Amino acid sequence: MPRKILVTSALPYANGSIHLGHLVEYIQTDIWVRFQKMRGNTCHYVCADDTHGTPIMLRAEKEGITPEQLIARVWQEHYADFTAFHVEFDNYGSTNSSENRVCAETIYKSLKSKGLIEVRSIEQFYDPVKNMFLPDRFIKGECPKCHAKDQYGDNCEVCGAAYAPTELINPYSAVSGAKPELRNSDHYFFKLSSATCQQFLREWTRSGSLQPEAANKMQEWLGTEGENKLSDWDISRDAPYFGFEIPDAPGKYFYVWLDAPVGYMGSFRQLCNSKGISYDEYWKQGSDAELYHFIGKDILYFHALFWPAMLHHAGFRTPTKLFSHGFLTVNGEKMSKSRGTFITARSYIDHIKDTEYLRYYYAAKLNGTMEDIDLNLDDFVAKVNSDLIGKYINIASRCAGFISKRFDGLLGKVNSVATAEFESAFKNGEIAHCYEQRDFSRALREIMRLADVANQYIAEKKPWELAKQEGKDAELHEVCSSAMTLFRDLTLYLKPVLPELAKQVENFLNISPRSTCCFLKPNCLARLS
Ligand code: 2FM
Ligand code: ZN
Repeated sequence: MPRKILVTSALPYANGSIHLGHLVEYIQTDIWVRFQKMRGNTCHYVCADDTHGTPIMLRAEKEGITPEQLIARVWQEHYADFTAFHVEFDNYGSTNSSENRVCAETIYKSLKSKGLIEVRSIEQFYDPVKNMFLPDRFIKGECPKCHAKDQYGDNCEVCGAAYAPTELINPYSAVSGAKPELRNSDHYFFKLSSATCQQFLREWTRSGSLQPEAANKMQEWLGTEGENKLSDWDISRDAPYFGFEIPDAPGKYFYVWLDAPVGYMGSFRQLCNSKGISYDEYWKQGSDAELYHFIGKDILYFHALFWPAMLHHAGFRTPTKLFSHGFLTVNGEKMSKSRGTFITARSYIDHIKDTEYLRYYYAAKLNGTMEDIDLNLDDFVAKVNSDLIGKYINIASRCAGFISKRFDGLLGKVNSVATAEFESAFKNGEIAHCYEQRDFSRALREIMRLADVANQYIAEKKPWELAKQEGKDAELHEVCSSAMTLFRDLTLYLKPVLPELAKQVENFLNISPRSTCCFLKPNCLARLS
Protein backbone atom coordinates (compact mmCIF):
# COMPACT_ATOMS: atom_id res chain seq x y z
CA MET A 1 0.00 0.00 0.00
CA PRO A 2 1.47 3.39 -0.90
CA ARG A 3 1.96 5.65 2.11
CA LYS A 4 0.05 8.93 2.42
CA ILE A 5 2.51 11.65 3.31
CA LEU A 6 2.16 15.38 3.89
CA VAL A 7 5.42 17.30 3.94
CA THR A 8 6.17 20.94 4.75
CA SER A 9 9.15 23.26 4.83
CA ALA A 10 9.21 26.28 7.14
CA LEU A 11 7.38 29.27 5.71
CA PRO A 12 9.82 32.01 4.69
CA TYR A 13 9.13 35.54 5.93
CA ALA A 14 7.75 37.86 3.30
CA ASN A 15 10.07 40.67 4.37
CA GLY A 16 13.25 39.36 2.85
CA SER A 17 14.78 37.48 -0.05
CA ILE A 18 15.46 33.78 -0.21
CA HIS A 19 19.16 33.17 0.41
CA LEU A 20 21.46 30.17 0.33
CA GLY A 21 20.78 29.46 4.02
CA HIS A 22 17.07 29.07 3.33
CA LEU A 23 17.79 26.84 0.36
CA VAL A 24 19.42 24.12 2.48
CA GLU A 25 15.99 23.32 3.85
CA TYR A 26 13.94 23.64 0.67
CA ILE A 27 16.42 21.56 -1.31
CA GLN A 28 16.59 18.95 1.46
CA THR A 29 12.80 18.72 1.58
CA ASP A 30 12.37 18.70 -2.17
CA ILE A 31 14.84 15.82 -2.59
CA TRP A 32 12.99 13.79 0.03
CA VAL A 33 9.60 14.53 -1.52
CA ARG A 34 10.81 13.63 -5.02
CA PHE A 35 12.19 10.40 -3.65
CA GLN A 36 8.86 9.56 -1.99
CA LYS A 37 6.96 10.30 -5.19
CA MET A 38 9.37 8.19 -7.26
CA ARG A 39 8.78 5.36 -4.84
CA GLY A 40 5.10 5.49 -5.65
CA ASN A 41 3.94 6.99 -2.35
CA THR A 42 1.24 9.64 -2.26
CA CYS A 43 3.17 12.64 -1.11
CA HIS A 44 2.03 16.28 -0.94
CA TYR A 45 4.52 19.07 -0.39
CA VAL A 46 3.09 22.39 0.77
CA CYS A 47 4.55 25.68 1.89
CA ALA A 48 3.60 29.36 1.89
CA ASP A 49 4.92 32.83 2.52
CA ASP A 50 4.78 33.91 6.16
CA THR A 51 3.24 37.32 5.72
CA HIS A 52 2.06 38.84 8.98
CA GLY A 53 3.61 41.01 11.66
CA THR A 54 5.02 44.43 12.41
CA PRO A 55 8.12 44.33 10.14
CA ILE A 56 5.95 43.75 7.06
CA MET A 57 3.55 46.48 8.09
CA LEU A 58 6.34 49.00 8.61
CA ARG A 59 8.23 48.07 5.47
CA ALA A 60 5.10 48.48 3.32
CA GLU A 61 4.50 51.86 4.93
CA LYS A 62 8.08 52.89 4.17
CA GLU A 63 7.69 51.86 0.53
CA GLY A 64 4.38 53.71 0.31
CA ILE A 65 2.39 50.60 -0.57
CA THR A 66 -0.11 48.41 1.27
CA PRO A 67 1.07 45.26 3.08
CA GLU A 68 -1.02 43.28 0.60
CA GLN A 69 0.89 44.81 -2.32
CA LEU A 70 4.19 44.11 -0.62
CA ILE A 71 3.43 40.47 0.12
CA ALA A 72 2.09 39.90 -3.41
CA ARG A 73 5.36 41.18 -4.88
CA VAL A 74 7.53 39.17 -2.50
CA TRP A 75 5.46 36.04 -3.17
CA GLN A 76 6.33 36.31 -6.87
CA GLU A 77 10.01 36.73 -6.07
CA HIS A 78 10.11 33.81 -3.65
CA TYR A 79 8.20 31.57 -6.01
CA ALA A 80 10.49 32.38 -8.94
CA ASP A 81 13.55 31.61 -6.79
CA PHE A 82 12.17 28.25 -5.68
CA THR A 83 11.26 27.34 -9.23
CA ALA A 84 14.77 28.19 -10.41
CA PHE A 85 16.18 25.76 -7.82
CA HIS A 86 13.66 23.09 -8.90
CA VAL A 87 11.91 23.15 -5.56
CA GLU A 88 8.52 21.86 -6.62
CA PHE A 89 5.68 22.52 -4.20
CA ASP A 90 2.28 20.98 -4.72
CA ASN A 91 0.92 24.21 -3.31
CA TYR A 92 2.69 27.43 -2.40
CA GLY A 93 0.28 29.67 -0.54
CA SER A 94 0.30 32.63 1.79
CA THR A 95 -0.56 32.88 5.46
CA ASN A 96 -2.71 35.86 4.51
CA SER A 97 -5.32 33.66 2.84
CA SER A 98 -8.98 33.08 3.64
CA GLU A 99 -8.22 29.37 4.10
CA ASN A 100 -5.58 30.15 6.68
CA ARG A 101 -7.84 32.56 8.52
CA VAL A 102 -10.46 29.82 8.90
CA CYS A 103 -7.84 27.31 10.12
CA ALA A 104 -6.42 29.79 12.66
CA GLU A 105 -9.85 30.77 13.95
CA THR A 106 -10.92 27.13 14.23
CA ILE A 107 -7.89 26.26 16.33
CA TYR A 108 -8.23 29.35 18.49
CA LYS A 109 -11.95 28.79 19.17
CA SER A 110 -11.31 25.20 20.01
CA LEU A 111 -8.54 26.06 22.49
CA LYS A 112 -10.76 28.74 24.00
CA SER A 113 -13.64 26.31 24.48
CA LYS A 114 -11.24 24.02 26.36
CA GLY A 115 -10.34 26.84 28.76
CA LEU A 116 -6.81 27.09 27.35
CA ILE A 117 -6.94 30.78 26.45
CA GLU A 118 -6.52 33.40 29.17
CA VAL A 119 -6.58 37.19 28.99
CA ARG A 120 -4.06 39.09 31.10
CA SER A 121 -2.89 42.67 31.20
CA ILE A 122 0.80 43.17 30.45
CA GLU A 123 3.07 46.17 30.49
CA GLN A 124 5.01 46.97 27.32
CA PHE A 125 6.89 49.77 25.62
CA TYR A 126 4.68 52.05 23.55
CA ASP A 127 5.75 54.53 20.90
CA PRO A 128 3.77 57.72 21.62
CA VAL A 129 4.60 59.18 18.19
CA LYS A 130 3.67 56.15 16.08
CA ASN A 131 0.87 55.21 18.50
CA MET A 132 1.83 51.58 18.63
CA PHE A 133 3.28 49.01 20.98
CA LEU A 134 6.83 48.14 20.04
CA PRO A 135 8.13 44.61 19.49
CA ASP A 136 11.50 44.03 21.19
CA ARG A 137 13.37 44.32 17.89
CA PHE A 138 12.02 47.83 17.41
CA ILE A 139 13.38 49.17 20.66
CA LYS A 140 17.00 50.17 20.90
CA GLY A 141 19.22 51.55 23.60
CA GLU A 142 22.38 51.09 25.61
CA CYS A 143 23.29 47.55 26.70
CA PRO A 144 22.80 47.26 30.51
CA LYS A 145 25.84 44.95 30.72
CA CYS A 146 28.58 46.33 28.45
CA HIS A 147 27.09 49.77 27.72
CA ALA A 148 27.40 49.40 23.95
CA LYS A 149 25.10 51.93 22.27
CA ASP A 150 22.21 51.22 19.88
CA GLN A 151 21.57 47.62 20.87
CA TYR A 152 18.27 45.81 20.22
CA GLY A 153 15.67 45.31 22.92
CA ASP A 154 16.24 41.57 23.36
CA ASN A 155 19.98 41.04 23.21
CA CYS A 156 23.28 42.81 22.75
CA GLU A 157 25.22 42.12 19.57
CA VAL A 158 28.45 43.26 21.20
CA CYS A 159 28.59 41.24 24.43
CA GLY A 160 25.83 38.71 23.67
CA ALA A 161 23.83 39.46 26.83
CA ALA A 162 20.09 38.68 26.76
CA TYR A 163 17.73 40.99 28.64
CA ALA A 164 14.23 42.48 28.70
CA PRO A 165 13.72 45.73 26.74
CA THR A 166 12.88 47.47 30.00
CA GLU A 167 16.48 46.90 31.13
CA LEU A 168 17.94 48.96 28.27
CA ILE A 169 19.53 52.27 29.27
CA ASN A 170 18.02 55.29 27.46
CA PRO A 171 15.68 53.24 25.30
CA TYR A 172 14.30 54.73 22.09
CA SER A 173 11.90 53.61 19.40
CA ALA A 174 13.69 52.36 16.29
CA VAL A 175 10.60 53.40 14.32
CA SER A 176 10.28 57.06 15.28
CA GLY A 177 13.22 57.71 17.58
CA ALA A 178 10.80 58.69 20.37
CA LYS A 179 11.36 57.75 23.99
CA PRO A 180 8.98 54.82 24.60
CA GLU A 181 6.47 54.81 27.46
CA LEU A 182 5.41 51.80 29.47
CA ARG A 183 1.71 51.08 28.97
CA ASN A 184 -0.67 48.30 29.87
CA SER A 185 -2.90 46.34 27.56
CA ASP A 186 -4.79 43.06 27.54
CA HIS A 187 -3.05 40.14 25.86
CA TYR A 188 -4.34 36.67 25.01
CA PHE A 189 -2.30 33.71 26.22
CA PHE A 190 -2.29 30.06 25.27
CA LYS A 191 -1.95 28.22 28.58
CA LEU A 192 1.10 26.16 27.81
CA SER A 193 1.89 25.92 31.51
CA SER A 194 -1.38 24.08 32.17
CA ALA A 195 -1.13 20.53 33.50
CA THR A 196 -2.74 19.14 30.35
CA CYS A 197 -0.17 20.77 28.03
CA GLN A 198 2.76 19.71 30.18
CA GLN A 199 1.57 16.15 30.40
CA PHE A 200 0.83 15.96 26.70
CA LEU A 201 4.24 17.39 25.76
CA ARG A 202 6.08 14.97 28.03
CA GLU A 203 4.36 12.07 26.33
CA TRP A 204 4.86 13.51 22.87
CA THR A 205 8.59 13.96 23.48
CA ARG A 206 8.84 10.27 24.22
CA SER A 207 6.81 9.22 21.17
CA GLY A 208 9.77 9.16 18.77
CA SER A 209 8.69 12.24 16.85
CA LEU A 210 11.94 14.04 17.51
CA GLN A 211 15.55 13.46 16.56
CA PRO A 212 17.65 12.54 19.61
CA GLU A 213 19.24 16.01 19.81
CA ALA A 214 15.81 17.65 19.63
CA ALA A 215 14.36 15.32 22.27
CA ASN A 216 17.21 16.34 24.60
CA LYS A 217 16.43 20.01 24.04
CA MET A 218 12.79 19.31 24.84
CA GLN A 219 13.74 17.64 28.12
CA GLU A 220 15.67 20.77 28.97
CA TRP A 221 12.67 23.01 28.20
CA LEU A 222 10.22 20.79 30.03
CA GLY A 223 12.40 20.10 33.06
CA THR A 224 12.01 17.02 35.18
CA GLU A 225 8.68 15.43 36.08
CA GLY A 226 6.87 17.66 38.56
CA GLU A 227 8.79 20.77 37.52
CA ASN A 228 6.83 23.45 35.66
CA LYS A 229 9.25 25.27 33.41
CA LEU A 230 6.87 26.26 30.63
CA SER A 231 5.34 29.72 30.46
CA ASP A 232 2.06 30.61 28.85
CA TRP A 233 2.44 31.85 25.30
CA ASP A 234 1.39 35.37 24.35
CA ILE A 235 -0.56 34.91 21.10
CA SER A 236 -2.01 38.40 20.62
CA ARG A 237 -0.72 41.75 19.42
CA ASP A 238 -2.46 45.10 19.57
CA ALA A 239 -3.51 47.20 16.58
CA PRO A 240 -1.97 48.53 14.42
CA TYR A 241 -0.81 45.12 13.24
CA PHE A 242 -0.88 43.35 9.89
CA GLY A 243 -2.56 40.01 10.56
CA PHE A 244 -5.84 38.34 11.45
CA GLU A 245 -8.07 39.99 14.01
CA ILE A 246 -8.92 37.63 16.85
CA PRO A 247 -12.63 36.64 16.84
CA ASP A 248 -14.62 38.64 19.43
CA ALA A 249 -11.55 40.67 20.36
CA PRO A 250 -11.64 43.94 18.40
CA GLY A 251 -8.23 45.57 18.01
CA LYS A 252 -6.40 42.36 18.95
CA TYR A 253 -4.56 40.31 16.33
CA PHE A 254 -3.08 36.86 16.25
CA TYR A 255 0.68 37.06 16.76
CA VAL A 256 2.45 36.10 13.51
CA TRP A 257 3.85 32.92 15.07
CA LEU A 258 0.32 31.70 15.81
CA ASP A 259 -0.88 31.69 12.23
CA ALA A 260 2.49 30.77 10.67
CA PRO A 261 2.48 27.02 11.41
CA VAL A 262 -1.27 27.04 10.85
CA GLY A 263 -0.20 28.15 7.37
CA TYR A 264 0.78 24.51 6.73
CA MET A 265 -2.89 23.64 7.12
CA GLY A 266 -4.11 26.67 5.16
CA SER A 267 -1.85 25.86 2.23
CA PHE A 268 -2.86 22.20 2.31
CA ARG A 269 -6.52 23.22 2.39
CA GLN A 270 -5.97 25.12 -0.86
CA LEU A 271 -4.40 22.04 -2.41
CA CYS A 272 -7.32 19.89 -1.23
CA ASN A 273 -9.80 22.33 -2.73
CA SER A 274 -8.07 22.37 -6.09
CA LYS A 275 -7.24 18.65 -6.31
CA GLY A 276 -10.18 17.05 -4.48
CA ILE A 277 -7.98 15.61 -1.70
CA SER A 278 -9.58 14.90 1.67
CA TYR A 279 -8.25 17.40 4.21
CA ASP A 280 -9.57 15.43 7.17
CA GLU A 281 -7.82 12.29 6.06
CA TYR A 282 -4.54 14.08 6.76
CA TRP A 283 -5.43 16.21 9.77
CA LYS A 284 -8.01 14.40 11.84
CA GLN A 285 -6.89 12.89 15.15
CA GLY A 286 -5.81 9.28 14.60
CA SER A 287 -5.15 9.87 10.88
CA ASP A 288 -3.12 7.13 9.21
CA ALA A 289 -1.37 9.67 7.00
CA GLU A 290 2.16 10.78 7.90
CA LEU A 291 2.98 14.41 8.58
CA TYR A 292 6.56 15.72 8.45
CA HIS A 293 7.83 19.23 9.07
CA PHE A 294 11.31 20.13 7.82
CA ILE A 295 12.62 23.02 9.93
CA GLY A 296 15.79 24.77 11.02
CA LYS A 297 16.96 24.09 14.56
CA ASP A 298 16.34 27.74 15.48
CA ILE A 299 12.57 27.27 15.26
CA LEU A 300 12.39 23.96 17.08
CA TYR A 301 10.85 25.66 20.10
CA PHE A 302 7.80 26.73 18.10
CA HIS A 303 7.38 23.40 16.37
CA ALA A 304 8.12 21.08 19.27
CA LEU A 305 6.20 22.90 22.01
CA PHE A 306 3.51 25.33 20.83
CA TRP A 307 2.55 23.60 17.61
CA PRO A 308 1.88 20.03 18.82
CA ALA A 309 0.20 21.35 21.98
CA MET A 310 -2.08 23.57 19.89
CA LEU A 311 -2.91 20.81 17.44
CA HIS A 312 -3.59 18.20 20.07
CA HIS A 313 -5.82 20.35 22.22
CA ALA A 314 -7.71 21.67 19.22
CA GLY A 315 -8.56 18.10 18.20
CA PHE A 316 -6.11 17.60 15.32
CA ARG A 317 -3.39 15.02 14.75
CA THR A 318 0.19 15.92 15.68
CA PRO A 319 3.29 15.69 13.44
CA THR A 320 4.71 12.23 12.81
CA LYS A 321 8.20 13.72 12.92
CA LEU A 322 10.03 17.00 12.96
CA PHE A 323 13.12 16.94 10.80
CA SER A 324 15.45 19.69 12.00
CA HIS A 325 18.62 20.64 10.22
CA GLY A 326 21.55 22.82 11.20
CA PHE A 327 22.62 26.23 9.94
CA LEU A 328 24.60 27.00 6.81
CA THR A 329 28.04 28.51 7.06
CA VAL A 330 29.94 29.83 4.05
CA ASN A 331 33.67 29.17 4.07
CA GLY A 332 33.35 28.14 7.70
CA GLU A 333 31.69 31.32 8.91
CA LYS A 334 28.20 32.69 9.38
CA MET A 335 26.96 34.27 6.14
CA SER A 336 27.88 37.91 6.23
CA LYS A 337 27.05 40.85 4.04
CA SER A 338 30.35 42.58 4.75
CA ARG A 339 32.44 39.49 3.86
CA GLY A 340 30.41 39.09 0.67
CA THR A 341 29.20 35.65 1.70
CA PHE A 342 25.56 36.61 2.16
CA ILE A 343 24.39 35.12 -1.11
CA THR A 344 20.79 35.43 -2.20
CA ALA A 345 19.14 32.84 -4.42
CA ARG A 346 18.84 35.52 -7.11
CA SER A 347 22.50 36.40 -7.05
CA TYR A 348 23.47 32.70 -7.31
CA ILE A 349 21.15 32.35 -10.34
CA ASP A 350 22.57 35.47 -11.97
CA HIS A 351 26.18 34.37 -11.53
CA ILE A 352 26.30 30.59 -11.57
CA LYS A 353 23.05 29.75 -13.36
CA ASP A 354 23.16 25.98 -12.88
CA THR A 355 21.15 25.56 -9.69
CA GLU A 356 21.49 21.78 -9.68
CA TYR A 357 25.15 22.13 -8.76
CA LEU A 358 24.06 23.59 -5.44
CA ARG A 359 21.44 20.89 -4.98
CA TYR A 360 24.17 18.31 -5.49
CA TYR A 361 26.58 20.00 -3.10
CA TYR A 362 24.00 20.39 -0.36
CA ALA A 363 22.86 16.80 -0.79
CA ALA A 364 26.45 15.65 -0.49
CA LYS A 365 26.63 17.43 2.88
CA LEU A 366 23.23 16.56 4.36
CA ASN A 367 23.01 13.55 6.64
CA GLY A 368 19.69 13.97 8.43
CA THR A 369 21.15 15.34 11.68
CA MET A 370 21.08 18.82 13.19
CA GLU A 371 24.76 19.47 12.43
CA ASP A 372 25.59 22.70 10.63
CA ILE A 373 26.72 22.39 7.05
CA ASP A 374 29.44 24.39 5.36
CA LEU A 375 29.44 25.68 1.83
CA ASN A 376 33.10 25.98 1.04
CA LEU A 377 33.27 27.73 -2.29
CA ASP A 378 36.48 26.04 -3.51
CA ASP A 379 35.23 22.66 -2.37
CA PHE A 380 31.92 23.35 -4.14
CA VAL A 381 33.66 23.81 -7.48
CA ALA A 382 35.95 20.82 -6.90
CA LYS A 383 33.11 18.52 -5.85
CA VAL A 384 30.87 19.37 -8.80
CA ASN A 385 33.75 18.95 -11.22
CA SER A 386 35.00 15.70 -9.78
CA ASP A 387 31.67 13.95 -9.11
CA LEU A 388 29.18 15.24 -11.62
CA ILE A 389 31.43 15.98 -14.54
CA GLY A 390 34.42 13.73 -13.85
CA LYS A 391 32.49 10.64 -12.76
CA TYR A 392 28.86 10.70 -13.84
CA ILE A 393 28.77 12.69 -17.10
CA ASN A 394 32.13 11.24 -18.07
CA ILE A 395 30.55 7.81 -18.58
CA ALA A 396 28.21 9.12 -21.26
CA SER A 397 30.76 11.41 -22.83
CA ARG A 398 33.13 8.49 -23.35
CA CYS A 399 30.54 6.08 -24.76
CA ALA A 400 27.42 7.77 -26.13
CA GLY A 401 29.12 9.06 -29.28
CA PHE A 402 30.06 5.55 -30.44
CA ILE A 403 26.48 4.35 -29.96
CA SER A 404 25.07 7.11 -32.12
CA LYS A 405 27.83 7.21 -34.76
CA ARG A 406 28.56 3.51 -35.14
CA PHE A 407 25.38 1.71 -34.09
CA ASP A 408 22.50 3.90 -35.28
CA GLY A 409 21.91 5.06 -31.71
CA LEU A 410 20.76 1.60 -30.62
CA LEU A 411 22.00 -0.29 -27.57
CA GLY A 412 23.08 -3.88 -27.98
CA LYS A 413 24.04 -6.72 -25.67
CA VAL A 414 24.86 -5.77 -22.08
CA ASN A 415 27.70 -7.51 -20.27
CA SER A 416 26.46 -9.02 -17.03
CA VAL A 417 29.88 -8.89 -15.37
CA ALA A 418 29.96 -5.14 -15.98
CA THR A 419 26.56 -4.65 -14.33
CA ALA A 420 27.06 -7.09 -11.43
CA GLU A 421 27.95 -4.43 -8.86
CA PHE A 422 24.90 -2.41 -9.85
CA GLU A 423 22.71 -5.50 -9.55
CA SER A 424 23.79 -6.04 -6.01
CA ALA A 425 23.22 -2.36 -5.16
CA PHE A 426 19.68 -2.68 -6.50
CA LYS A 427 19.22 -5.83 -4.47
CA ASN A 428 20.40 -4.49 -1.13
CA GLY A 429 18.39 -1.27 -1.46
CA GLU A 430 20.95 0.75 0.45
CA ILE A 431 20.59 3.87 -1.66
CA ALA A 432 16.83 3.95 -1.19
CA HIS A 433 17.32 3.40 2.54
CA CYS A 434 19.71 6.35 2.75
CA TYR A 435 17.28 8.60 0.91
CA GLU A 436 14.48 7.55 3.25
CA GLN A 437 16.66 8.37 6.29
CA ARG A 438 17.60 11.74 4.74
CA ASP A 439 21.21 10.61 4.73
CA PHE A 440 21.74 12.02 1.26
CA SER A 441 25.44 12.29 1.87
CA ARG A 442 25.74 8.51 2.21
CA ALA A 443 23.40 7.92 -0.73
CA LEU A 444 25.63 10.04 -2.97
CA ARG A 445 28.78 8.35 -1.72
CA GLU A 446 27.31 5.00 -2.71
CA ILE A 447 26.15 6.36 -6.07
CA MET A 448 29.60 7.77 -6.78
CA ARG A 449 31.15 4.45 -5.79
CA LEU A 450 29.01 2.87 -8.49
CA ALA A 451 30.07 5.60 -10.93
CA ASP A 452 33.68 4.67 -10.15
CA VAL A 453 32.89 1.04 -10.94
CA ALA A 454 31.44 2.08 -14.30
CA ASN A 455 34.43 4.30 -15.10
CA GLN A 456 36.83 1.56 -14.16
CA TYR A 457 35.09 -0.80 -16.58
CA ILE A 458 35.39 1.76 -19.36
CA ALA A 459 39.04 2.43 -18.53
CA GLU A 460 39.78 -1.28 -18.72
CA LYS A 461 37.94 -1.84 -21.99
CA LYS A 462 39.15 1.37 -23.67
CA PRO A 463 36.31 1.79 -26.22
CA TRP A 464 38.31 4.56 -27.98
CA GLU A 465 40.94 1.96 -28.87
CA LEU A 466 38.40 -0.71 -29.82
CA ALA A 467 36.90 1.84 -32.19
CA LYS A 468 40.15 2.04 -34.12
CA GLN A 469 40.62 -1.70 -34.44
CA GLU A 470 39.28 -3.92 -37.21
CA GLY A 471 36.69 -6.55 -36.27
CA LYS A 472 36.04 -5.17 -32.80
CA ASP A 473 32.61 -3.72 -33.52
CA ALA A 474 30.68 -6.27 -31.48
CA GLU A 475 32.91 -5.71 -28.47
CA LEU A 476 32.75 -1.95 -28.83
CA HIS A 477 28.98 -2.17 -29.01
CA GLU A 478 28.81 -4.31 -25.89
CA VAL A 479 31.15 -2.11 -23.87
CA CYS A 480 29.31 1.08 -24.77
CA SER A 481 25.87 -0.51 -24.30
CA SER A 482 26.89 -1.76 -20.86
CA ALA A 483 28.33 1.61 -19.89
CA MET A 484 25.24 3.48 -21.08
CA THR A 485 23.04 1.08 -19.12
CA LEU A 486 25.00 1.92 -15.99
CA PHE A 487 24.73 5.60 -16.83
CA ARG A 488 20.97 5.19 -17.15
CA ASP A 489 20.78 3.52 -13.74
CA LEU A 490 22.92 6.19 -12.09
CA THR A 491 20.49 8.72 -13.52
CA LEU A 492 17.63 7.01 -11.71
CA TYR A 493 19.52 7.21 -8.44
CA LEU A 494 20.50 10.83 -8.91
CA LYS A 495 17.07 11.94 -10.04
CA PRO A 496 15.73 13.20 -6.67
CA VAL A 497 18.79 15.46 -6.43
CA LEU A 498 19.16 16.40 -10.10
CA PRO A 499 15.64 16.34 -11.55
CA GLU A 500 16.38 18.60 -14.50
CA LEU A 501 19.54 16.85 -15.55
CA ALA A 502 17.72 13.51 -15.24
CA LYS A 503 15.01 14.83 -17.53
CA GLN A 504 17.61 15.89 -20.11
CA VAL A 505 19.28 12.49 -19.91
CA GLU A 506 15.93 10.73 -20.32
CA ASN A 507 15.30 12.79 -23.45
CA PHE A 508 18.80 12.17 -24.70
CA LEU A 509 18.51 8.43 -24.14
CA ASN A 510 14.96 8.48 -25.47
CA ILE A 511 13.62 6.55 -22.48
CA SER A 512 10.51 6.96 -20.36
CA PRO A 513 10.87 9.05 -17.21
CA ARG A 514 12.70 7.13 -14.51
CA SER A 515 10.27 6.51 -11.74
CA THR A 516 9.03 4.14 -9.17
CA CYS A 517 10.07 0.65 -10.01
CA CYS A 518 13.55 0.28 -8.64
CA PHE A 519 12.93 2.47 -5.64
CA LEU A 520 9.59 0.89 -4.84
CA LYS A 521 10.92 -2.49 -3.82
CA PRO A 522 14.44 -2.43 -2.49
CA ASN A 523 15.23 -5.75 -4.15
CA CYS A 524 13.43 -5.14 -7.41
CA LEU A 525 15.68 -6.02 -10.30
CA ALA A 526 13.31 -5.03 -13.05
CA ARG A 527 14.76 -2.25 -15.13
CA LEU A 528 12.79 0.35 -16.97
CA SER A 529 13.69 0.09 -20.61
O1 2FM B 1 11.72 31.57 10.98
C1 2FM B 1 11.06 31.90 10.01
O2 2FM B 1 11.56 32.34 8.98
C2 2FM B 1 9.57 31.74 10.06
N1 2FM B 1 8.96 32.54 9.04
C3 2FM B 1 9.23 30.29 9.93
C4 2FM B 1 7.81 29.96 10.07
S1 2FM B 1 7.66 28.28 9.97
C5 2FM B 1 6.09 27.93 10.26
F1 2FM B 1 5.84 27.90 11.47
F2 2FM B 1 5.34 28.65 9.60
ZN1 ZN C 1 26.45 44.38 25.70
